[in-house]
Amino acid sequence: MKNKISLLFIYLSLISLLFAVLLGCLASFQYIYPNALTGILSFQMLRPLHVSMVIAWIFSSALAGIYYYLPKIVNRPMYSKKLTYFHLQVFVITGLLILYSYFTKSFGGREYWAFPPYLSIPILVSWLFLIVNFFMTLLNYVLFSLSENTGFMKTRIPVYIWMWSVGILFFFFTFIESYLWLIPYFRENIVRDIMVQWKSYGSLVGSWNLLVYGTALYVMDKISGKSISIGKMAYFLFFLGLTNLILGWSHHLYILPTAKWIRYVGYAISMSELLILARMIWLWKKTIKPPEKGKYYLPYLFLISADFWIICNLVLAIIMSVPALNIYTHGTHITVAHTMGSTIGINSMILLASIFYILYDSKIILEEDKGMQVSKKGFWIMNVSFFIFWINLIIIGVLKSYYSFKGLHHQQIMNLLSPYFIGFFITGICLFIGVLCVVFPILNKKYFNLFS
Ligand code: HEM
Repeated sequence: MKNKISLLFIYLSLISLLFAVLLGCLASFQYIYPNALTGILSFQMLRPLHVSMVIAWIFSSALAGIYYYLPKIVNRPMYSKKLTYFHLQVFVITGLLILYSYFTKSFGGREYWAFPPYLSIPILVSWLFLIVNFFMTLLNYVLFSLSENTGFMKTRIPVYIWMWSVGILFFFFTFIESYLWLIPYFRENIVRDIMVQWKSYGSLVGSWNLLVYGTALYVMDKISGKSISIGKMAYFLFFLGLTNLILGWSHHLYILPTAKWIRYVGYAISMSELLILARMIWLWKKTIKPPEKGKYYLPYLFLISADFWIICNLVLAIIMSVPALNIYTHGTHITVAHTMGSTIGINSMILLASIFYILYDSKIILEEDKGMQVSKKGFWIMNVSFFIFWINLIIIGVLKSYYSFKGLHHQQIMNLLSPYFIGFFITGICLFIGVLCVVFPILNKKYFNLFS
């Protein structure tokens, strides 16, 4: 049966993804021609626009999954249908206001939340709708199970429920924390300010990672028909994720005068978390029999590619975190490769797996649909071009550090790097084509007859 709210979130997420990639391409064009689009869309405007659309994509696709999976898990509808629609409406309206603020050059925020700080209020309110709805749905289920004596107390709760619960709650608090700079006590002391800023951003990413990893485990369980999410390794992953959320941010504080061991602990936790997830997907792959693979071929492919990207990002993270190298790489395109590597390679692949799973599961698309052949081709175009894109970014980062070390001026460095910037733009366009091929067949009106 169709779950309309989930489909609306999917629709929104796919549109956000397309715009995110398109805006990324426009931003990369300005590496080659810095004055292109001057007066219309400057890099200072394109970067926050691109990043905001990326965040919208990640959250709306993760929410589509939670609103689809939770009713199935507890075998009852969400606590309040109205709240789910309020959530969507506030999400869309705030998103549009954020875009409007960027186009009218009204900034005022910081880093990933570059929009005026007052727009964070509706974001918090919409998240409160989710908190109430999610936990009341769970509570009703628990009360019902206890009253009916279904043996609920003896069953092990699948780890994705814990991951979503903690991810949802922590996002709320760390989002507030990321605005502590509005209070002079934090803003007026630079060390305190940077510390709180990076701590909150690290934890924010940690909380959305829990939403995404929970989604991956749910989809893995469903495709294989096995209960991986109640196994010891799954719980270990959850506790690592939780610890990462609380402490993992500390490896970002390279420029602050903190004790070295604090960074190493944060670093070790983040690495172990990725390693365990990679191992789980790898072991899960071995449990899949051909029929399941055929039935859910695209979600399967996207999960396997997430596994590949986890390994790539792990290797990069290990190399770039060696203190002697980090002095040179910090703030270069190697950091961008790391961020985009995780958001495209890990988060987006898992979230696309989830979207295709939902569409297959609700029989909105069928494996034999013609459009699925296009999506499969898109999958390969996306992954191959992203691989070259990613390597190219790393090369830009390495060369930039090397030329800076040699004492070259900014303009000289930019001239020497220009062939790689062209490569960045071209592979970005190929990535866009790949995403378009993946997304276009499922954006077809036939599937999303939502407004009828
Ligand atoms: C699903 C697709 C994408 C995702 C999830 C994504 C994600 C991100 C993220 C998270 C950042 C912030 C990086 C940081 O703060 O270190 C970023 C920056 C950027 N992205 Fe993307 N990106 C995507 C696709 C693209 C594409 C196709 C291009 C085109 C070449 C592109 C070009 C850029 C540029 C130019 C920046 C700014 C880098 C800078 O600050 O110099 N992105 N992207």
